[in-house]
Amino acid sequence: MKQLNLDISKLKPFIDETSLEGMQEEINNSHRLLMSRTGKGNDYLGWVDLPLHMDAVLVDRIISDAAKIRQMAEIFVVIGIGGSYLGSRAVIDALDNPFQSLMGEKGSPRIVYAGENLSEDYHARLLALLDKKEYAVAVISKSGTTTEPAIAFRLIRQHVEARYGKEGARERIFAITDASRGALKLLADAEGYSSYVIPDDVGGRYSVLTPVGLLPIAVAGFDIRQLLDGAARMRETAVKSSGCDENPCARYAAVRNILYRREKVVEILVAFEPSLLFMIEWWKQLYGESEGKENRGIFPAGVTFTSDLHSMGQYIQEGRRMLFETVINVETPVNRLSVPNDPENLDGLNFISGKRLSEVNMQAELGTMLAHIDGGVPNLRIILPAINEYYLGQLIYFFEFACALSGYTLGVNPFDQPGVEAYKKNMFALLGKPGFEKETAELQKKLLS
Ligand code: PA5
Repeated sequence: MKQLNLDISKLKPFIDETSLEGMQEEINNSHRLLMSRTGKGNDYLGWVDLPLHMDAVLVDRIISDAAKIRQMAEIFVVIGIGGSYLGSRAVIDALDNPFQSLMGEKGSPRIVYAGENLSEDYHARLLALLDKKEYAVAVISKSGTTTEPAIAFRLIRQHVEARYGKEGARERIFAITDASRGALKLLADAEGYSSYVIPDDVGGRYSVLTPVGLLPIAVAGFDIRQLLDGAARMRETAVKSSGCDENPCARYAAVRNILYRREKVVEILVAFEPSLLFMIEWWKQLYGESEGKENRGIFPAGVTFTSDLHSMGQYIQEGRRMLFETVINVETPVNRLSVPNDPENLDGLNFISGKRLSEVNMQAELGTMLAHIDGGVPNLRIILPAINEYYLGQLIYFFEFACALSGYTLGVNPFDQPGVEAYKKNMFALLGKPGFEKETAELQKKLLS
């Protein structure tokens, strides 16, 4: 089996060898902080060893529950927001055939999401779908108190009980939450739902390799053991050495910090496979919440090419020069498809007839990289051997470990998210939550002024 790698060879016009060497000491220090558990937020480092110490009994239980759910449900509703759904969605969308449900064959349950927005229309339409389908539900919240999933769960719980009765609800609802705290824990205990625990020392955005991600991924029909094996393989490399030459996580963290100090304050994660769209969304959350604080941090953005070359491509090529790109290069596609020959050649495409689409896509990728470098946008490339469970496990762990190193090198706590509270406080005050009377009056004055 291969290993994911990070190619920085095309950074030469922007970063020379000595800059990378100059950063090595800082990366060594960040690696030391992480491995000795003496850095900021060290209560939240449970994810570092997760793939190593994953409890085999827990994995068996997840697989067996997933098999039951696959039997009983056409739809599996995953209720959660932020780290409670993005990781599973990233993996499921990467591996899924998006056309499966249109093929009219009975395949795996479709995974649908709720509680990651507050849209009335979205949730009304979801309930209308559930009226017509057999379904089961995972409600996922570490704190057990997040408003968006709590509202969605209230709606869906009533739907399940009306449809399947209390006993049926116990069979079909799976709660994934803290071991002892939070409203969801209370509710799950009171109602007797099957529960899984999110370890205390694993924060939401680092939780995809816990039941938070593993249960939905297994229900969707994917191999969670392979995912964990891939993560374990990347962990081996990541923990062994802090050297930027040997450790791609260290290299990524170093390069990001060098570019940031040279005013490259926006990083665009680029994929040429549309199935990686939610991997980008997961990465945006991981890096945005981990680094964007204390008036610091790279702004994480994302695009999928070649589609976004026809929207964002102009800005990237010629807009304000504050960008760098990290491109996920997928070496081998799952399927084979070539451009057919056409004797009339009215579209002028015969010069590529017989070529595989992946080859055309690769030339688009290389051509884009060279154009963007010419336009002043540094490019790094993550070389992913293929999109399967094993390599996605590697990719997830690569991003997690690099994020921790990069955050420490930036000088922030990569494991908290104090800024997320501000909107919640205002929302509660505006909705008239008891205890927020003073804030309500202040906000209303602001809105009127
Ligand atoms: O990374 C994080 O901690 C957050 O993004 C959370 O995952 C998100 O806010 C949801 O929180 P909870 O799982 O407590 O409902």
